[in-house]
Amino acid sequence: MSGDSTQIFNPADKVAKIAHCSSMEQYRKMHEKSLKDPEGFWSEIAKDFHFEENGLGQFLDYNFDVGKGKIYIKWMAGSKTNISYNCLDRHVSAGKGEQVAFYWEGNDPADAEIVSYSDLLKDVCRMANVLKSKGVAKGDRVAIYMPMIKELVVAMLAVVRIGAVHSIVFGGYSAGSLADRMLDAEASALITTDAVWRGSKLIPLKEIADDALKICRSKNRNINVNIVVKHISRVTAPQSAANGASNGNPAKKTHFDDTVGWDDKVDVWWHDVMKDVSSECPPVWMDAEDPLFMLYTSGSTGKPKGVLHTVGGYMLYAATTFKYSFDYHPGDIYFCTADIGWITGHSYVTYGPLLNNATSVLFEGVPTYPHSGRFWEMIEKYKVSKFYTAPTAIRTLMKYGDEPVKKYDLSSLSVLGSVGEPINPEAWLWYYRVVGDSNVSIVDTFWQTETGGHVITPLPGATPAKPGSACFPFFGVDVALLDDEGHEIKGEGEGYLVFRQPWPGIMRTVYGNHERFETTYFKKFPGFYCTGDGAKRDKDGYIWVTGRIDDMLNVSGHLLSTAQVESSMVEHEHVAEAAVVARPHVVKGECLHCFVTLTQDAEFTDKLVSELKVKVRSTIGPFATPDYVQLAPGLPKTRSGKIMRRVLRKIAAGERDFGDISTLADPSVVEVLFEHRPKDK
Ligand code: PRX
Repeated sequence: MSGDSTQIFNPADKVAKIAHCSSMEQYRKMHEKSLKDPEGFWSEIAKDFHFEENGLGQFLDYNFDVGKGKIYIKWMAGSKTNISYNCLDRHVSAGKGEQVAFYWEGNDPADAEIVSYSDLLKDVCRMANVLKSKGVAKGDRVAIYMPMIKELVVAMLAVVRIGAVHSIVFGGYSAGSLADRMLDAEASALITTDAVWRGSKLIPLKEIADDALKICRSKNRNINVNIVVKHISRVTAPQSAANGASNGNPAKKTHFDDTVGWDDKVDVWWHDVMKDVSSECPPVWMDAEDPLFMLYTSGSTGKPKGVLHTVGGYMLYAATTFKYSFDYHPGDIYFCTADIGWITGHSYVTYGPLLNNATSVLFEGVPTYPHSGRFWEMIEKYKVSKFYTAPTAIRTLMKYGDEPVKKYDLSSLSVLGSVGEPINPEAWLWYYRVVGDSNVSIVDTFWQTETGGHVITPLPGATPAKPGSACFPFFGVDVALLDDEGHEIKGEGEGYLVFRQPWPGIMRTVYGNHERFETTYFKKFPGFYCTGDGAKRDKDGYIWVTGRIDDMLNVSGHLLSTAQVESSMVEHEHVAEAAVVARPHVVKGECLHCFVTLTQDAEFTDKLVSELKVKVRSTIGPFATPDYVQLAPGLPKTRSGKIMRRVLRKIAAGERDFGDISTLADPSVVEVLFEHRPKDK
């Protein structure tokens, strides 16, 4: 990232003309009001939502300062609402039932379905009744392990309709990771799917889930309900699989082997249980501060944290950020490519769009299947106006050149969003010029699982954008940069990115471990929420997020902790010690570079390297597969035994400016490791 503050791109005229916020002056006024008078600002917005009882409750109460006691954040405590009611019933009652909620498109372009708001409401009520009949009640945790299909949205909204708490686990996680999360959440039910095609790869979700359930059972946690969507037999198999499965005689709708293991005591088919239940189910009115959902995110100790969000604040924040960051208007067609298994999918595939009564594209597949123009083809087909994806996807597609983009009519586009990691100016410019035809506004949205929604982002009708900068704080967010000692850096400078007061979407606790919540986010700088990222502010006040400053790395927009990968590697009998760092990668942003010290007599062979890769894949998930594994006869440690990771990061990046290494017990290992560094692939 260059931090170049000279190149400025004004909002596209067609966006600014109709925008909810159409000038920097208006932005500044609104932002100032949101900080000085949070109640006045957010209560005005809350008027658009349905609160069943107690008005808006006690509007805001919080303590952000560990020195003053327990950290807590409460918005609208005492008021009663339900997010599924606000996503669905509210619009259906207003006569919008026939409006399309989702254009679902499968992995294969031949598979598509249109889902209206009233279809969705009926299915959500049915599933809510099913869950109740299975004994799921308010406050219970329901794990969800599903692909990007309509039933995933139905499952989440059904869970929250009855006041239960969903814990969605991304469908790319392994059985072990799913089990860890179900155990930590003390889940009482699971909703999954038989299998899914991701490109031409079959992911046997039910089989993986069965293994996870076995692990849970072995740890005395019996999950007695597993609702399974029968999906794979209703979609088109990839040609390659069809050829294999039908002896070279591909039928278009080849039903791949759809048998799954079955346990009558636990498993039920989704379509069976949905058959004879009522399509009406009154929502459970929840306190605004009751738990809404939890979502696990990597922690620097290696143990994932169950980030907990509550009903009312999250609802206001997801809805408001969606409306302003994408400048949503009725008639827009919106397409967010993120998987619902990550926070981006929670806030900007499900809740934000539905709360705004938007029409979205819900996409099951991958950007390069069956061809590298798939996103662009879909934008043309559905006339998408607002598109939201990740820098890693942009960089992947850039590699195919401009041709696959230029084949399609993308003139419907007006706002292009980016999320998940810093976007390099080259990718930003390609997105703007080639995809957006230099006639769009780009929003580089910075946020986290913990923040619930965008916290630093341009507004597309107001903010002159600088490629690579997330620009300015969203309403309610009070940004500060601090140095190591906690002194505030005013004006130009670089430091820890922290926020001074709560916005409605901030997480409320780490599930089952409030102390960890306080230690991770509030202890280092009392009085501030600490993001764990570094940032710089340029002379014009623009914020440039520079990336994690803890032991976290960001592979293709997914956060991983180095400790998590290391602990998986040292489980191998031949590994004595492992140290994992981020290495720059042209497509993924960062990838894993692992230094391993072996046990005596063990040999560093290709076989060992592939065993280690398999180990990480199976304990965490395929997206965590290391790109580089390097033999380390020794690791650069201080005399007190602490590994100097900054030196390993330099070695991985191929940079020689190691800085001061005089405190190392044995500085000579640095040169050895550098010399044997694996070349860029
Ligand atoms: O390091 C920042 C990076 O992603 C982290 C949050 O990851 P996660 O909780 O998985 O949520 C990802 C989707 C919101 C942040 O701490 N990050 C996210 N968006 C950006 C970013 N870094 C720079 N620019 C962004 N736009």
